[in-house]
Amino acid sequence: MTVVINMRDGMDGRKIKIAAKFILEGKLVAFPTETVYGLGADALNEEAARRIFEAKGRPADNPLIVHIADFDDLKKLAREIPDEARLLAEKFWPGPLTVVLPKKEEVPTVTTGGLDTVAVRMPAHPIALALIRASTPIAAPSANISGKPSPTLAEHVIDDFYGKIECIIDGGETKIGVESTVVDLSGEKPTLLRPGGLPLEEIEKVIGEVEIHPAVRGKLVDVARSPGMKYKHYSPNAQVIVVEGPRENVRKKIEELVKEYRKKGLRVGVMATEQYDADEFFHLGTSEEEVARNLFKALRELDKRRVDIIIAEGIEERGLGFAVMNRLRKAAGYRIVWA
Ligand code: TXA
Ligand code: MG
Repeated sequence: MTVVINMRDGMDGRKIKIAAKFILEGKLVAFPTETVYGLGADALNEEAARRIFEAKGRPADNPLIVHIADFDDLKKLAREIPDEARLLAEKFWPGPLTVVLPKKEEVPTVTTGGLDTVAVRMPAHPIALALIRASTPIAAPSANISGKPSPTLAEHVIDDFYGKIECIIDGGETKIGVESTVVDLSGEKPTLLRPGGLPLEEIEKVIGEVEIHPAVRGKLVDVARSPGMKYKHYSPNAQVIVVEGPRENVRKKIEELVKEYRKKGLRVGVMATEQYDADEFFHLGTSEEEVARNLFKALRELDKRRVDIIIAEGIEERGLGFAVMNRLRKAAGYRIVWA
């Protein structure tokens, strides 16, 4: 049975207690963060962490992010806390930034996918923070079935997990819409493992240049540092195609593709920042922030409208656009059309 707790109208200490009890009993609770919904369990309870992998159908070597509510919690999880981690935490926590550090023995290797590092973040969401404070550090990947678009609404979590987990907290739509930025601080040089809700430019202002792991750009070389990068991601049932290039060309190219696929008898969906004629259309908004917020919802929504193919307009890769394009290209399995 799944208990759905409605907290769309704000925090409620009594309801938090119910959810925290589930966590402390080793059960699974989906909860909102400022990025996407997380599928949470006690990070220090091996059996509980194992259940997350089972419920998601997630490969055992793809590590989880541990969510904390106070900086002191980090000291319980990480063996070393380098200056960069302190600086970034001071500036950006709570917020959409995850840091990877050498782990303490107390963190089960189930949680870290067998690695001797642990990924940690402090989410900027009152419900998430209250839940952690009322229980324990919580391991939580995005609350979607492995390979599907991440959830930005409780309905998405209900679609994927109703009947399969103990509790879902409905806190309304998530604000940022793409997952946290992941920076590895366990090696020689700070390395970006996943662009996300905190723009890389902001991080570099604080700690200087950050290397970009080649897998971020889709090059499947050394994936040992973040095994998550090698798996299929964000894919709706429909085939996604991303159109990239100068704006004027992109419009023409999308219109051409819509015609071409419709001629083949396919139902075509378009998701873009401008209006298009197609069988189905999803307006992503115009700013980077809006596009990030609407991205996963658009993929899930166009699937529900049963299109065969989704043509997505590419946006510029700066700011949140870096995270958006990373997710879109993955959702498309790197089927990119250059206009
Ligand atoms: O915004 C977010 O980060 C959301 C919310 C719920 O907090 N969580 C999330 O978790 O996106 P997940 O599991 O979907 O993505 C975690 C990413 C994966 O790419 C994983 O490989 C990487 O973080 N990761 C986790 N632990 C790691 C570690 N020890 N070393 C390297 N990468 C790690
Ligand atoms: Mg995920």
